[in-house]
This record gives sequence, C-alpha cells and structure tokens, in this order.
Amino acid sequence: MEATNLMKKAATTLFPNGEAEQRAFLAALLEPEPRGSAVVWTGPRTAGELDTVERGTLPSWVPDEIDLVKPGEKIGRSRAYEAGEIYPLDFSSVTAASALITARDRLPEAPRVLDLCAAPGGKSILASVLVRPGLLLSNEVEGKRLGPLRHNLARCGIRNACTQRLMPEEIASLAPEAFDLCLVDAPCSGQSLLAKGIANPGCFHPSTIKGNARRQLRILEAAALTVAPGGFLLYTTCTFSERENEGVIEKWLERSGAGFCPVEVPHLASLRSPLSEFPSYRLYPHNSPGVGGFAVLLWREGVPNGDSRTLLPSPLLDYPVGPTTALSQP
Ligand SMILES: C[S@@+](CC[C@H](N)C(=O)[O-])C[C@H]1O[C@@H](n2cnc3c(N)ncnc32)[C@H](O)[C@@H]1O
Repeated sequence: MEATNLMKKAATTLFPNGEAEQRAFLAALLEPEPRGSAVVWTGPRTAGELDTVERGTLPSWVPDEIDLVKPGEKIGRSRAYEAGEIYPLDFSSVTAASALITARDRLPEAPRVLDLCAAPGGKSILASVLVRPGLLLSNEVEGKRLGPLRHNLARCGIRNACTQRLMPEEIASLAPEAFDLCLVDAPCSGQSLLAKGIANPGCFHPSTIKGNARRQLRILEAAALTVAPGGFLLYTTCTFSERENEGVIEKWLERSGAGFCPVEVPHLASLRSPLSEFPSYRLYPHNSPGVGGFAVLLWREGVPNGDSRTLLPSPLLDYPVGPTTALSQP
C-alpha cells in the first residue's frame, strides 16, 4: 500500500468517529507547520532571555520547570543554552515530565534512576531536574550516540550521573532489582517526526511497526528486571502506532509483567488514550504544541527495601560524567 494510504488507514483506526479529526491529523503530518520547542530549566529560570509562550495559555499540566519557546527562536544560540541552564525538548516529552512528577511522590529520597535508551539525553535531564537522583545511569546502545549524550549531560551540569553502552539484558543481569525508576524511551517507528518536517520513509509500514514492537517487547522484559519492588517503569515513544504503544504494554503485561500495574497520571487526564483499558496517554500534533507521543507509567508492587541495596558492580559506574570523583551509591 502506498505511504499516504497507510497513513490514512492509521488515521481511520486512531479516530474512528471523526473525519474532521482524521483530516487535521493527516494535515499535521503531511503539511507540517513551524513549531516551538519546550525547554527544561536545569537551574533557576532567568526571566526574559527567551521568547516564551505565556504560561497561562499552556495546558495546566505543564510542570513549572518547563517553558514553551515560540517558533523561530534560536535556542542553541542563547546565553542560557551556552551556560547549560536549558535543554530543548519536543513539547511531547512534557508528558514524561508529568509522569515523573507522579512517581516522585512515591520514590525514596535520592532515588537510583536507570535511563535504558538515553541518547541524546532529554529524558535523563528531565529526570535529573524532576526527581533529583542520587545516581543516574544513562545507557545508550549506539556507540555514535554516546558522545552527544555525555556532552549534553556534562553541558547541563547533571549531577551523580554516569553513562554506559550495554544491551538492556546485560544491565538486567548485572543489576537486578537495583533501580527505583527505569526509563524506557523506546526506539520506535517515529511517526511523529513527520510533523517536524523530517522525512521518515516506511514509518507507517506494517513491517516497520512489527519489527519495532518486537524490539520494544524485548527491551521492556529486560527493563522490568532492573526495577526494585515499589519502583517505577516509565515507557514512552514518539509514535502513534497502537501496536508499538498500548499493544506492546498489553502483551508484556500478559506475558511477563506480573507484579507491575499501570498507574494514573492525574495531570494527563485529558490525554487518556481510548485505546487501552489501563491508564496510558497520547499526545497528537494537530491539537497540541508537540509533534506527538505516548506515555505509560507502571508501578512494581512491593515495598522499597533500601537497607538491602547491593552495590552496583563494574562496569556500571565506570564512566562518570563530569569530575571523576567516586560516585556514592545511594
Ligand atoms: C527515542 S531514542 C531516545 C531519546 C532519549 N531518551 C532522549 O530523550 O533524548 C531511542 C534510543 O534507543 C536506542 N536503542 C536502539 N536499539 C536499542 C535497544 N535494542 N535497546 C536499547 N536501546 C536501543 C537508540 O539508539 C536511541 O538512542
């Protein structure tokens, strides 16, 4: 089937009752408009430096640490960027921020955080700002993406962080049940990139979607093994495919997700996905400042057992970011 027809078919599945909404969704992908970018402040906000959208006009769930910068603003040339005070993100990542805030209230002080699919670093930086980890392990499997990841974490002065380049299964066997929070910002078909004007051939093709869903399931299986009792797993993508989003989570919960349950993120109530019975959240490019994405927050049943924490073995802490002082292990 031709690419546009695959896209139209997807629109019909996603919005079964609304031809107007199908058309708006397709227009956002096929005729992308310039969009602003979100920025997360890694320290105190300095007023007036960036041309930002009035906070009162943003959705109420946007966390205080995040601003939406107007289209056309050259964020990378700003003083705040040079100084590492901001990190730009697509606005859709802000759903992850809301989920992190929900988890934060139930996490221990200075939690151990694992970002399994970390480059170029956006979610690691969000987690650092919002949950203040005692230890942040930012992992990236692609060697060529490690440099930008380390550069971004260092530029933003991210504390208590180290990086690694391991397969999720390797981390799971080195550090079972060792993290209070595991982030899986999964590699995906990236359908939302079209709304940024980035060509992504084949992103609606069933074989692309099937391959990604398989990989996502494997990553999730490993990710779940790293989560301590009472801890959280946050799964996010930047695609619209039901199979890669609600479908993967449903399959994983049935197969091996015993002990995990999806939890409500109250800030995101208006973005609740109608495609799952459990709480999960979708953002679309035709009705938000972001290009689109999916998020689900899962809690592992049990009680955090801080006293019996094992020390993380080498090589997990071998590559600290920033000054090479020994990382304390919370
Ligand atoms: C959506 S991107 C992550 C974006 C990042 N979290 C951020 O916010 O800046 C997904 C990442 O997963 C990595 N990846 C690809 N295959 C993987 C695998 N099998 N296991 C873990 N990560 C993988 C990709 O190299 C890519 O960097």
